[in-house]
Amino acid sequence: MKQIAVFTSGFSRGSNFLAICEYIRLHGLPVNIRYLFVTDRNAPIIEHAQALGIEIVYYDSDVKLNDFLVDLCEAKPVDLIVLAGFMRKFSSLFFQKIDTPIVNIHPALLPKYGGKGMFGMNVHRAVFEAGEKVSGATVHFVNENYDEGEVILQKECDISMCGSPEEVGKVVLGIEHEIYPMAIWGFLKV
Ligand code: GRF
Repeated sequence: MKQIAVFTSGFSRGSNFLAICEYIRLHGLPVNIRYLFVTDRNAPIIEHAQALGIEIVYYDSDVKLNDFLVDLCEAKPVDLIVLAGFMRKFSSLFFQKIDTPIVNIHPALLPKYGGKGMFGMNVHRAVFEAGEKVSGATVHFVNENYDEGEVILQKECDISMCGSPEEVGKVVLGIEHEIYPMAIWGFLKV
């Protein structure tokens, strides 16, 4: 059985988390979500995890985030850390101490529309305002720099019919839910 942990930060809605849980269930995969890490006790994702009986680890904000995460990863080792709406940066100290691979999904076709400040609607607004006809999602490994780790899987979608950044976001989210679980399983099964 492979073990994964899902990390999120802020007021996370948890749609990718749900898509991953559903993919594991539907395909009967030997993958266990050992725990969910959250920084906001009011995040909607918490209810989803509770309904599925998944352990939730809350961030104790008296400790520096990266110190907390190092301790957590040492105490509860997993095969893969999956970021789903995790907007914080891992420090170089974290990478020195923890060698668990980390994956993230970005709601655009990296290397375009990535980097600092490029998250959520900021991404879709930039894509829309640039007049792009195609967008998509990218699953990539995580390193010390935002959105710069090696690309694992990417899929494009047609956004030419979208009349707003919100509509772009909806189409892209469908792609995220499709490719993120596939990429995770593709990594774990080898
Ligand atoms: C997604 O748009 C993903 O691309 C980004 O964070 C968002 C998380 O959304 N990394 P959700 O909580 O999975 O619905």
